[in-house]
Amino acid sequence: FYVDKGNYRHFMQKEIYEQPEVVGHTLGAYVDMTSGRSRLPGEVALDFGAVRRMALSACGTGYYAALTGRYFFERYARIACDLDVASEFRYRESPLDGVDLALFVSQSGETADTLASLRYAKAAGLKTAAIVNVPESTIAREADAALPTLAGPEIGVASTKAFTCQLTALAALSVRAGVERGRISGAEEAELTRALSEAPRMIAEAFKLESQIEAIAREMTTHRHALFLGRGSSFPLALEGALKLKEISYIHAEGYAAGELKHGPIALIDETMPVIVIAPYDGVFEKTVSNMQEVAARGGRIILVTDEKGAKAAPVAAAATLVLPDMPEILTPIVYAVPLQMLAYHTAVHMGTDVDQPRNLAKSVTVE
Ligand code: G6P
Repeated sequence: FYVDKGNYRHFMQKEIYEQPEVVGHTLGAYVDMTSGRSRLPGEVALDFGAVRRMALSACGTGYYAALTGRYFFERYARIACDLDVASEFRYRESPLDGVDLALFVSQSGETADTLASLRYAKAAGLKTAAIVNVPESTIAREADAALPTLAGPEIGVASTKAFTCQLTALAALSVRAGVERGRISGAEEAELTRALSEAPRMIAEAFKLESQIEAIAREMTTHRHALFLGRGSSFPLALEGALKLKEISYIHAEGYAAGELKHGPIALIDETMPVIVIAPYDGVFEKTVSNMQEVAARGGRIILVTDEKGAKAAPVAAAATLVLPDMPEILTPIVYAVPLQMLAYHTAVHMGTDVDQPRNLAKSVTVE
């Protein structure tokens, strides 16, 4: 296939901007928008009714999507989730006792470690499912249930739209699973799917932060390191935000669970350390804010990503605050991913790196 950059400077930029559309398409496969009922796409046969424990595995950005999936599945469906990067899962010889379903996440559907993990799970007699963006890929063909993301071809090596589509599929599936397991009422299902249907509009709102992000990115180029903090479902986003920044700008970045700050990374904090704090006004907001205060007390340069309520409630002044609209909690990982992508993108553009083809990286890693 041939995909054109159109009027965009890079594929990554184009793919960031495609997100409202492709997230909407992906959601349409998992939610009947007329009735507000969650559903499985097309011919997929998958029953969550008897699933009590799931093993999730993937590589790279797909792994961070899976890690976010754990928050969705544990919260909305009360399914316990084991998580592994695929390169560990395939060799760890985990006994997999009590695991009812193994779920894999892959954009390409060809990543060697993820494929090997899928085969390992199948050989262990587990039922398998895979969220895959390329329907004719090996992983999509070999999984018992192939669950599509409708992101379209992703060319930029750094994954953007595939990630938010994976999150969308995972969120909607967790609602479906909650219904099938009797953990979610019809009214709650309707409320959650209505919330999810707001994703494209909220992502478009995030785009409005672009000029502010560009200015932050310009400043970011003067730093050698950056720290990303988040709690709850914002923790995987901290990891993904750090991955995006390091892979295309080559600035060393680490993502941490905010609560782990005092167990190590706080030693790094001084005036030269930018700290990106991802803190929607949710159930763990106050806790994240107390970590933010610890950073502020040591002179760290805080870039706060929050919503209107959070911006009002935050007691410390950040060097920069990116304010998204208030939104239902199930949406925050999908929407908050976008400013982090834009931050990495603009930093890389300012640095003059090869944004779509960063050094040493491949779009799909088909060898071990
Ligand atoms: C490579 C890509 C990443 C991707 C990872 C997993 O590292 O550069 O963007 O997240 O592989 O790929 P997959 O196709 O399995 O999602």
